[in-house]
Amino acid sequence: MSKMTKIEIITRANKLEELKSALNSIGVEGMTVSQVYGCGLQKGHKEVYRGREYSINLVPKIKLETVVCDVPVDQVLSVSQKVLCTDQVGDGKIFVYTIDNAMRIRTGTQGTKAITDDEA
Ligand SMILES: Nc1ncnc2c1ncn2[C@@H]1O[C@H](COP(=O)(O)OP(=O)(O)OP(=O)(O)O)[C@@H](O)[C@H]1O
Ligand SMILES: [Mg+2]
Repeated sequence: MSKMTKIEIITRANKLEELKSALNSIGVEGMTVSQVYGCGLQKGHKEVYRGREYSINLVPKIKLETVVCDVPVDQVLSVSQKVLCTDQVGDGKIFVYTIDNAMRIRTGTQGTKAITDDEA
C-alpha cells in the first residue's frame, strides 16, 4: 500500500477560493474546510511588545485538510505557498501527517483505494 498523507493548511480566509482552485489544478480531490480561530508566533498581535507577551489574541482563519496519495506532497506544499505567501505575518502554517488508514464508508474499501478509486 502506498503512503497516505494528510496535509493541513491553516491560512487567511480570503485565500480559500484561490487555494481550492490551485489544489484542484494539481489533482487534489477530497478536502475538508473549517473556520477556525488561532494564533502563531506573534500570539495574534501584529507587533509583540512588552506587556503584551502573555496575552493571546485569537484571529479567524480557515483550515483546509486533504489526504493525498498520488499527488506529491511537495507539490501541494509549493503550490500552496505560491498562492498563500504575502510576506506578511499571519500567512499561515502547513502541517503534514502520515495517515495509517482510511475507509470509504459506503463500500467498506480501505487504504489508498478509499481515496483514489471511485469504483472501489
Ligand atoms: N504551532 C502551531 N500549532 C497549531 N496551529 C498553529 C501553530 N502556529 C500557527 N498555527 C495556526 O496557523 C495560523 C496562522 O499562523 P501564523 O501565520 O501567524 O504563523 P506564524 O508561525 O506566526 O508565522 P508568521 O510569522 O508568518 O505569522 C494561526 O492562527 C493558527 O491557527
Ligand atoms: Mg504569526
